[in-house]
Amino acid sequence: MAVVQYQSRLILLLVLFVLLVGGGRVAPLDLWDPTIRLPSDKDKPEDANHKEDGTRWAVLVAGSSGYGNYRHQADVCHAYQLLKKGGLKEENIVVFMYDDIANHEINPRPGVIINHPQGQDVYAGVPKDYTGKQVTAANLYAVLLGDKKAVKGGSGKVVDSKPNDRIFLYYSDHGGPGVLGMPNMPFLYAMDFIQVLKKKHASGSYKEMVIYVEACESGSIFEGIMPSDLNIYVTTASNAQENSFGTYCPGMDPSPPSEYITCLGDLYSVAWMEDSERHNLKKETIKQQYQNVKKRTSNSNNYDVGSHVMQYGSKNITVEKLYLYQGFDPASVNFPPNNGQLEKPMEVVNQRDAELFFMWQMYKRSEYGSEKKRDILEQIKETMGHRTHLDASIEFIGTFLYGPGKGSSTLNSVRALGLPLVDDWECLKSMVRVFETQCGSLTQYGMKHMRAFANICNSGVTQSEMEEACSAACNGHDPGQLHPSNKGYSA
Ligand SMILES: *[C@@H]1O[C@H](CO)[C@@H](O)[C@H](O)[C@H]1NC(C)=O
Repeated sequence: MAVVQYQSRLILLLVLFVLLVGGGRVAPLDLWDPTIRLPSDKDKPEDANHKEDGTRWAVLVAGSSGYGNYRHQADVCHAYQLLKKGGLKEENIVVFMYDDIANHEINPRPGVIINHPQGQDVYAGVPKDYTGKQVTAANLYAVLLGDKKAVKGGSGKVVDSKPNDRIFLYYSDHGGPGVLGMPNMPFLYAMDFIQVLKKKHASGSYKEMVIYVEACESGSIFEGIMPSDLNIYVTTASNAQENSFGTYCPGMDPSPPSEYITCLGDLYSVAWMEDSERHNLKKETIKQQYQNVKKRTSNSNNYDVGSHVMQYGSKNITVEKLYLYQGFDPASVNFPPNNGQLEKPMEVVNQRDAELFFMWQMYKRSEYGSEKKRDILEQIKETMGHRTHLDASIEFIGTFLYGPGKGSSTLNSVRALGLPLVDDWECLKSMVRVFETQCGSLTQYGMKHMRAFANICNSGVTQSEMEEACSAACNGHDPGQLHPSNKGYSA
């Protein structure tokens, strides 16, 4: 049964790839107008006729690692260049990225990262504040709170902000209901993050904050739990129950240069950055950017290949101009008006399938009959097997706890808009711990099952009932061993 299911999934996957790779939707190739962003533009600091505005701070986070996740670090490097060009100082921008992309053996342009098919290098000059093992949720919290002593490793740079300062936080990665990924465990849990924001607010050490988050189910990080009185405004790539999307992927339109076998960007992320690069940010408001990005990320209102950009928190901040957060590039006063090119569709792959999509690209391009090709196929099979195993374990647990026919409807039920994913966030963590102890690591893909754990908590299941269910489902085996993450192709 498991084998049959697994084989049919593999076939489905292969069919999907053929469709993805072969399907030619028309999208504009002329999205990139080189005249609007000259590499020779100077980093001219914003003249401060706005003394009352204090300092602009930024925190940029790429939550993944692995070449198959190229796009998240590319997004973050691009954001750095944009802010730098806007006049933010390096000392005020804290960057979290694993930093395994630019010099990766598969990177066709060593030492270079691009975030657009015709884009310039965005890697040069990006500070290596927190890289590799230092990219953790705990370090992110310490940096936001300006708590130098709590930071482990890295440059030690923190957001040492004052009451009149503004902070811009941008995050790009995989996520799941209630969690954002980090290249080092544990995940970032929504409630922990909100507590950090509350603590920062209580310390009186900023004026306002704007947060942009790209991840699957990113709305669930804020839905029902983000206060509106912290002077913090948030937008997310997706609502609480849908994917977000990678774009500029091989074989898709717009396509990266042919030597790239990985996606270069993410739909919401490139939407906000390309919007910022096309406008005079002393004129454009946060609200206007929200509307532009919402429209583009909807991919012409096609929610199979686009998502619903959401907003949370202090929405009254959106009347402000973007330059207060992202700075101002003097060259932008001469930008031509943008006449709606951006509304055309972009081909995409959903965040969760991007890993398999990448492995498939590797497979296609490796030499016929070679050992490497067989290796990669093995990796794909193992990844599929691991996914099937996780899905089946969760389904089994649902049936075990709620009875046949009721399991999956209970685990997948979605709460009404405005309600948080879970009432007891500590319960959510402990249910995940119980599962991982018995069934192995959830991994990047397994984040999609967080809603099931949340619903287990919401229905009042006790920890010992959960232990029994997980033990029955996983039989003491550690399916995490199946996961190929230590072989270097995936994250
Ligand atoms: C938004 O509202 C809060 C109070 O709810 C106020 O303190 C703040 O100044 C307002 N911000 C703007 C930009 O209007």
